This record gives sequence, structure tokens and C-alpha cells, in this order.
Amino acid sequence: MDTWRLKKEGFELSEAARDGNRFLCANGYMGLRGTVEEADKREFPAITLANVYDRYRDRWREPVNAPSCLFVRLSMNGRALRLAEKQPKGHIAEIDYRHGIYRRDTDFGPVRLRSERFVSMAQHHLLADRLRLDIAEDGELEILTGISTDIWDINGPHLFGAAFTKGEALGCLAVTGEKGISVAAAQCIQKDFDAEEAFRQKDDCVIRVLRRRVKRGETLTLSVFAAVCTSLDGEAPDRTAESISIEAKRQGFDACLTAHKAVWEDIWARSEVTVEGDDAAAQALHASQYHLNCIAPRHAHALSIPARGLSGQTYKGAIFWDSEMFFFPMFVYTQPEIARSLLRYRIETLGGALAKAKEYGYRGAYYAWESQEGGAEGCTNFNVVDVFTHRPVRTYFRDKQIHISGDIAYALRKYYEITGDRSLLEEGGARVILECARFYLSRANCRLDAESVEYADVIGPDEYHERVSNNAFTNQIARYCMLSALKLEEIFRDTPDVLRAIRDELKYENDWELLKKASAAIREPVKRDGVTEQFDGYFGLEDCSVETVRGRLADPREYWGGDHGVAGTTQVIKQADVIAMLALFPELYEDGEVAANWAYYEPRTEHGSSLSACMYALTACRIGRLNEAWELFMRTASIDILGGGKEWAGEIYIGGTHPASNGGAWMIAALGFAGLTMRNGIPEVHPNLPAQLTHLRFPITSAGKRYMVDVSREGGRIEPL
Ligand code: BGC
Repeated sequence: MDTWRLKKEGFELSEAARDGNRFLCANGYMGLRGTVEEADKREFPAITLANVYDRYRDRWREPVNAPSCLFVRLSMNGRALRLAEKQPKGHIAEIDYRHGIYRRDTDFGPVRLRSERFVSMAQHHLLADRLRLDIAEDGELEILTGISTDIWDINGPHLFGAAFTKGEALGCLAVTGEKGISVAAAQCIQKDFDAEEAFRQKDDCVIRVLRRRVKRGETLTLSVFAAVCTSLDGEAPDRTAESISIEAKRQGFDACLTAHKAVWEDIWARSEVTVEGDDAAAQALHASQYHLNCIAPRHAHALSIPARGLSGQTYKGAIFWDSEMFFFPMFVYTQPEIARSLLRYRIETLGGALAKAKEYGYRGAYYAWESQEGGAEGCTNFNVVDVFTHRPVRTYFRDKQIHISGDIAYALRKYYEITGDRSLLEEGGARVILECARFYLSRANCRLDAESVEYADVIGPDEYHERVSNNAFTNQIARYCMLSALKLEEIFRDTPDVLRAIRDELKYENDWELLKKASAAIREPVKRDGVTEQFDGYFGLEDCSVETVRGRLADPREYWGGDHGVAGTTQVIKQADVIAMLALFPELYEDGEVAANWAYYEPRTEHGSSLSACMYALTACRIGRLNEAWELFMRTASIDILGGGKEWAGEIYIGGTHPASNGGAWMIAALGFAGLTMRNGIPEVHPNLPAQLTHLRFPITSAGKRYMVDVSREGGRIEPL
């Protein structure tokens, strides 16, 4: 088995949306869905841009899809050669994880089309595709390629007033409706054959038409170089796109590919987890690391990663807690500059968090649950549509999922502990922690000098139970956030004036004293036989199985949470909640307690979110439930191979890749199986190798030093590189 590739034979239109995710190519600036060159809107083709958002009328704001600039349509003797129209003689699609290359090999009969394409890691505006056509019949071949703004959008359209140009490169310049952001695309071709060339232009496209009388036995090669730029990147994005595509053509496909591959080689040298003993696991790890690495914002100083990466517009392209809890760990240990970018995004969007807190009548920083540009809250009050009435359902994620601010403070502190680098705290990170802690002071539902500080009316990670009180996870993260604020005193011990200046600037003196009292008084959860109650009253809810609850659904797409959701009155939960807390704070809980909670909560968990299995796997490693850990690991790591995961929340499409699971796979391998942990700034391993693996190796960076972690049946070691 080639663990660096995923191949799929055959084509079904019904699978095209999933294939778009499976075969995604991306470079952090944009994602090109893994659909075929000739795909139409039924197949959900898209080039989704990072950090460019638009709102059309009263629909949800979502990321903008660039003009389609890599499509190619073939016809022979007037008959279209399109996978969606006619079963080919053979079709294989493949993604090469090592170098981020999508390949296809389609035998249409009269023509065999083989192509390879990539979204350049070396030049983030560039996409390139090389097509080889083996001609099997004499005839009249027509090739159409160009740029079109007639594209698939979930809540669009977003591109207006497109102007097209023709020259060495074809060009397109359009603007987004809401903010007037210019989005430009350019396209050049290079071919090794003569053809009659003509152009067609309509309101929404410019198309290059190549016609040639072909003979059986001929092979034709066509390379397409496309570039996408926006006015957020700089002035005159149309001219920049044009010159990038022309320059790529001048260099040629092979040179562009070589530069792209070199970046991937470096990424793997810094992050690859190698496993021996199970090829499916090795492939699934490559898939996971590929998918997370390809959406990392390598081109940007302060940018985070949407919950569905760059695989489309699902989840509004928003940044969730997934970034800090699930993407951040792999990056902080392997490519800390990317972890810094994720956290700088939070530092730079502090303004949005301060504004949100104010809007709700609180002080400090209340980060957006679904953060879009500038930290604007993308989460609506009606985030689900009822499948029976087709009416929007009032959900409270935006108002009540207050753990988000603490999650961010948690990652900022971990960044410091793992890298030993204080500069991020100095450059705004400390401010963020202090403002988040202040938010928890003001959000407490009691006087702060009370015996017990409580958080009522919240939503924990388990979103099926809304508006609960004293969610154990939330209380713990609030406490940790406050303690992290106080910890700054120790971190800045040698330069107390730096912290003092920040505190003065934030007018923090009274709050400092309150933090000490409140952090010590936050309500501890109720425990029964070592099991932590997820929130006040949880143990009193109907205790039934996940299957019983599933059996009550009248429609498989029905939403389990909300006012009338099937799970709300039961103990069945969507995803790891208490278990997430145990996984994130391993030092606070004894093994016996972890075991008791695991045994209680796992059977009651639907794993309805791709964020769930990883937390259960991490804790399973710790308590020696290695068979379960293995099963949960494979589920997590294979998700974007199998195309699994939920695709609907009520009537809303939520399909895409699963970066949280991708990061989760790294976390299980590194933090679970190898038992990587930091003690006083030094990395250590405490292996829990499952029987299926004989060997596990991966590089890490800590405090500026590089190490290789090596775990086998004989034990584990960390060696400097
Ligand atoms: C989960 C959240 C998660 C979001 C984005 C939801 O289904 O419940 O915890 O942040 O998806 O991945």
C-alpha cells in the first residue's frame, strides 16, 4: 500500500461533493476542491479564499469563492467528454499527500485525459494544471478553458460587475457586493500542439476555444497557469494576477512544480509522524497531516484556520475554538510560526471580542463563537433550520458558549510553556489573557466575594444541552483563564514593569485582587462515584442510550439539540465535554477519576462532532484502554479519507474537510500514543503504544530546539536533532 496516496476508481455524481473534500489541494491562501476539471455546479467545484468574506442580502456571510479559472472542457466531434454525463471507460482520481498534487486518469474512449494539478506552496496566488490527452480516434477536438464568475456558492452570489480582458493572459476583475473587495483572476496556457484559437466572451466569462483535427495515436499536452489575487493583498490585483500567471508560464510547469514540492518536503521534514505496523494508520496520518498542513496560513502574519479549512463555504468560513484546541497543538510542536499566526489572529481581533462583551453587558473580551474578519461574530441567532417546518431554530451558541475566551487564553499560555517564547505575550497575548479573565469576572452569576462563583446559563462543548448551569468544562476553563492571568506575574518576574505597564493600560488593579478571590471560589462540579456531573442537574436527566435517542428521530437530518431536540431531555451528549476537560488538564485528575468518567460518558456520547473522538482517544491512552484508543484514532485519522462526518445540521449543509480531526490525529499519536508532555519546559514521553503499532517517530520543536521522538515496544526516547 502506498501510504502517501489516496486513489479512487470510478465516478458517481452523488460522491462528487465528498470527493471535492477528499482530493482538496490548498496552500493556506486558497483551497481548490478536488472536483474534475469539467465539473459543473452539481459537483460543488470551488476555489475558496481564506479571509475574504462577503454577505449577500440577508443571507449568512461566508468566504468568497474566486472566479473559476482552472476549468477545462473537452469535446470530440461535437460530443462533450464529461464525467457527469457519461460513464467513462475508466476513471481514477488520486491525491498525492507528500506533494499536494491531484491527479486524474480518465479514459473517455476517444480521448484519455491524464492531468496533475496543484495549488502552489511556493507562490500562494498560483494554481497550475497539466493535462495530457492521448487521442484514440481521429476527429475534431475542441478544448475550452478560461475564467468564469458563474460559480457555485452556498449563500451567494458574491462577485459582481466582472470585467474580462484578453491578452497573453485572460483576466477577470470583479468586486464583492458587501464591501467592494476586488477579486481578480488571470489565466495563461502553454501547449505543445497547434490549434485554431478563438475567444468567446459573455457577461460572466471569457473562454478560450482551441480546435484541432486530431489523429489516433497523438498525445497533446496543455498546461494551464492561473492566479488569484484580491485588493486585500495590495493594489491592482488584476495586474498582479496577470503577471504571476505569465511568469509561471515563462518558468514552465515543471519548474513551478519543483518549487512547490520543495516546500512540502520541508513541511514533512518538520512534522511527519511515521508509524510502523499498520499501513492504513500510516496513510490516515499522512492524510490528516496533509489536510491540516495544506490549509495553514503560511503566507500570513496573523490569520487563523476555518473549522472546515478551505474546503468550501461551510460553517461560514468561521474560526471556532477548533483553532486553539485542535489545530494549535500540531503547529506549536512542529511549526511554531504557524501557531503564532493563529494566536496573533486572536490578538488582532481583540477589538471584536471587547465589542461583543460590551454588547452583552459584560466587561473584558468575549470572543466570537464563529469569528470572521476582524473578529466579527458570524454565528447567527438561528444557526439551524428545522427539517419539518423549514423554520429557523433559535440557538444560543453565540450568546452562551462562553468557554471560547478561556480556550484562547489556554492556547496562549501553552504557546509560552512549549516554546519558552514570551514575545507573543508581550505583543498583545498578555492583554488578551487579562481581558478574557476580566470577562469571566464580569460574567459570573454571583457577587465575586461570594463563597462560590457560578456560571449559569451557558453552553459547554456538548451543544445539545443549551443554557445549563455550572458546566464543569466551562467553570474549569474560566478558572484556568483567571489563574493564567495571575501567572503572568511569574512569567514577567524579571521584567515586572512590562506587566505593570500592560495592567495600568488596561486599568486592571481592582480586577487583579478580584481574580485571586474568584479563581479560588469557582464552583467545583458535583461528583458521583468519581464521575463529574457535566452540569447542574445532568444526572437527573433521562438515562438512555445513544441508539434509543437516535431511534426517536423522525428524520435523519433532524437536529438533536435546541428546544425540541431529541437529546436535550436525556443524558446523551453530542461530543466530549467532561472528557475534553480531562484531556486538556491531565495534571489535575487522577487516573482512577479519568477511568470512571470515561466509562460513564463514552456510551452516552453520540460523537456527533468530529471534535469528539480525539478527546476520548487521548484519555483512553492514559487509562490503558488502548483498543478503544486505537479505534477512536482510526476513526479520527480516516475521516477525510472515508469522507465521513455529518453533512447536515437540520437543513444546513455542513460537509467539508475536518481539520479538527486532522489535528486530533496528530494529538492522539503524539500526546496519546507517545505520551508527549512538557515538564518544566522540557519535553518528555510516556508511551502508550497500541498493539497495532511497532514503532512511532516524529520531530518536534520546543524552546527553539529540534528533537526526534522515537517510541517502540522497548520504550520511548527524545533525541536532539
Ligand atoms: C461543534 C463545535 C465545533 C464546530 C466547528 C460543531 O458541530 O459542536 O464544537 O467548534 O462544530 O467544528
